[in-house]
Amino acid sequence: MCRGVFLLFCLLLQGTWSGSPYRTLSSQNVRKVKDIINQYITKHNTDPTKIVRTKTVTYSFSTLPLAGENITNGLGPIWTDTQGRPAAPNGDTYVGSCNPCGLGDVIGSLVRLLFHDAAGQNGANGCIDWNTADHKGLEAVVADLDSLYTANSLSSVLSKADFWVLAGITAISRAAAPNTPPTIPFLWGRVDAPTCSDIGLLPNAEGDHTLLNSYFVRRLNFTMQETAALMGAHTLGRMEGRFSGFSGGWTPRHHALTNSYYSAAVGVVWDKRLRNGKIVWEAPRLACDDPQLETSCGQTVVMLNVDMALFTDVSLGTCTKFPAPPNNVGSCVDSPFRTYSKAYTSSTSQGKWIKDFALAIAKMTKIGYAANALYSVDFVRIDLIDLGNSVVQ
Ligand code: HEM
Repeated sequence: MCRGVFLLFCLLLQGTWSGSPYRTLSSQNVRKVKDIINQYITKHNTDPTKIVRTKTVTYSFSTLPLAGENITNGLGPIWTDTQGRPAAPNGDTYVGSCNPCGLGDVIGSLVRLLFHDAAGQNGANGCIDWNTADHKGLEAVVADLDSLYTANSLSSVLSKADFWVLAGITAISRAAAPNTPPTIPFLWGRVDAPTCSDIGLLPNAEGDHTLLNSYFVRRLNFTMQETAALMGAHTLGRMEGRFSGFSGGWTPRHHALTNSYYSAAVGVVWDKRLRNGKIVWEAPRLACDDPQLETSCGQTVVMLNVDMALFTDVSLGTCTKFPAPPNNVGSCVDSPFRTYSKAYTSSTSQGKWIKDFALAIAKMTKIGYAANALYSVDFVRIDLIDLGNSVVQ
């Protein structure tokens, strides 16, 4: 109740308070929510209806088709699966199960959603503007999370925005090897927005290092080193032509949190190509019977311009192969981000990257919120309104 001398102050607070409607979030509830997300990830991984391809295949020719490409290899046209990815042409041998495809996809979707919600209007607010084409492909994971939120009555526990952030963090932990767990502190208190407008707020995949700088450093206030660490999220998940126009994964094991995104960037030679009218960098195609290969069999391993921009100035017309061949000195010029990205390329730098990545993700989850608007788990928020009410009775 608002009374006496506190009336004006109290009404002002009630009228202007736009913070979280929740008073606390207990560690016990956080554990429960993480369990729900982990079960969802596990189910997604094993639910056959969610697995796009159940078999990997050995192709009888050396270069594999791109998703949706109508290539012939002398045996007739290659058919594609329902997702537009190349499937086994007649006569090919199935060599194993591709069940981790499901794991990489669900983990990738949850982490991408964390980024897209945070980078959209006003930071993470549990709102995706479906009029923004950059969000394409997130529909399924958002629908799944919405169902989980409703089915488990989570609206009495945490906001949808907090739920999505916790889902992203849980997915990252799930992707990590047990000996390199990322430490991403989770804060709660985000406020859901019923509507949002994200048009123009997501970065262009064909941009160069100047875009990384203007987007992450100037707009979102990340350092160059944090930007380099964040982009390694692309070690998870993959691209689909029907969503973004790009196809393929950045790494062959796209469900695992490793620094292979960085080591591959400098470890193999990438060719700049135009596919479906879009710039991509392609590595030599992977053999499908490679025992290391768990997920991307039959798909090209690709980098976007923004990924290669961590290492080289992709805007240079002369740089069409990276690393440039020795006799082509000068055709590629270092990107200003290279010093930072290079630090994550060696076989001993995985721990460092995971630590830096976790810090950068934690910072991303706070975009749009004042330092005192998000709270630690188990913190009980007492509003000035409560104080006013208890004093003026
Ligand atoms: C310049 C910045 C970035 C650009 C232009 C970009 C662009 C893209 C594109 C085009 C896709 C493919 C979407 C699809 O076809 O389904 C994608 C996927 C993805 N992005 Fe980014 N991204 C950027 C930064 C980030 C950041 C900072 C994160 C997270 C911290 C992130 C996480 C992901 C993940 C995990 C996927 C895989 C999604 C899946 O498997 O469904 N991206 N990104």
